[in-house]
Amino acid sequence: MKDHSVKIALLKTLSDGAFYSGEALGISLGISRAAISKHIKGIQEWGVDIFRIQGKGYQLAKPMNLLNEVYLKQRIHNPLYLYPVIDSTNQFLMDRTDSLESGTVCLAEYQENGRGRRGRQWYSPFGSNLYLSMYWNLEAGIAGAMGLSLVAGIAVIDALESLGISGVKLKWPNDLYFNDKKLAGILVEMSGQAGGSASLIVGMGMNLSMQVGNSEIIDQPWSCLSDVLDGESVDRNKLAVEIISCWNNALEEYEFKGMSSFVARWNQLDNFIDRSVKLLIGKREICGIDKGIDSRGAIILETEQGIESYIGGEISLRKNDL
Ligand code: ATP
Ligand code: BTN
Repeated sequence: MKDHSVKIALLKTLSDGAFYSGEALGISLGISRAAISKHIKGIQEWGVDIFRIQGKGYQLAKPMNLLNEVYLKQRIHNPLYLYPVIDSTNQFLMDRTDSLESGTVCLAEYQENGRGRRGRQWYSPFGSNLYLSMYWNLEAGIAGAMGLSLVAGIAVIDALESLGISGVKLKWPNDLYFNDKKLAGILVEMSGQAGGSASLIVGMGMNLSMQVGNSEIIDQPWSCLSDVLDGESVDRNKLAVEIISCWNNALEEYEFKGMSSFVARWNQLDNFIDRSVKLLIGKREICGIDKGIDSRGAIILETEQGIESYIGGEISLRKNDL
């Protein structure tokens, strides 16, 4: 694994938002100004907005609220791994399911290879968003995996609401939306099956204060939690604690009771309820009015042929601009 310790030390220093001269940074880290400049370029490649003003030094475009392992471990009883830089938090847990306790959590400040569904990329700049995964051993087996992504989405909304944040909606089957734009995505992956149970990884990437300039990798409208909060920012550590706690509660409830207690809540939160949508299934397109989900977590559409329901990981829902 590459050694990122100098970049991380620089980011910790710069995170307060003050100016630091290249010379002072070099002295504190025992390296040259030229080496500092090289590391700053590397930090910019991690998607961090950092600039230099002649005579003053380097400054972050805005202060950075880094994740704090001590704070998190005091409040979360799940086994927890926190890394500044990781390949993918989902992959980290997936590689270790044999030895992990159900409920183990992995968080990172930056993902080199964050992923969405079907091999798509998840853009994961350092320190500005949330990248969070949880390992869950689901006794119900793979049949329950679909419902898990819906339940995990509802639980994230519960977490936001418990912090006084409202207005965020769900898009079937795995996204959180604000103002019709993607705020967060959930990826449920399976790493294997032991007996009847399934080893599942639930991962979520949520945009908190991502910069507009970073958006070219993302080929669809997106939003940030700071948009929901009219430009204010949220305490990332508090948010992580709340989401993990709501995931614990919701996944346990799902294990014991299944989807039934979540259906009405989903339908209240469905961003496209009673709106015209289309489902993309391979090359097929099915148009209809979104009528929410059924007791299995399938999406219900009112089509010209009548009421139909669809379920499965290969389906994408899109707004139907008539
Ligand atoms: P689906 O409805 O099939 O889930 P999707 O387009 O949302 O469709 P996903 O695989 O769920 O696809 O998510 C990956 C997509 O999300 C990427 O192709 C990109 O367009 C978008 N994306 C990547 N990073 C981000 C991000 N940080 N914020 C918002 N959207 C992102
Ligand atoms: C999607 O919309 O397709 C889901 C995106 C999921 C991204 C998160 S970020 C944390 C976890 N690690 C990953 O590599 N992916 C998920």
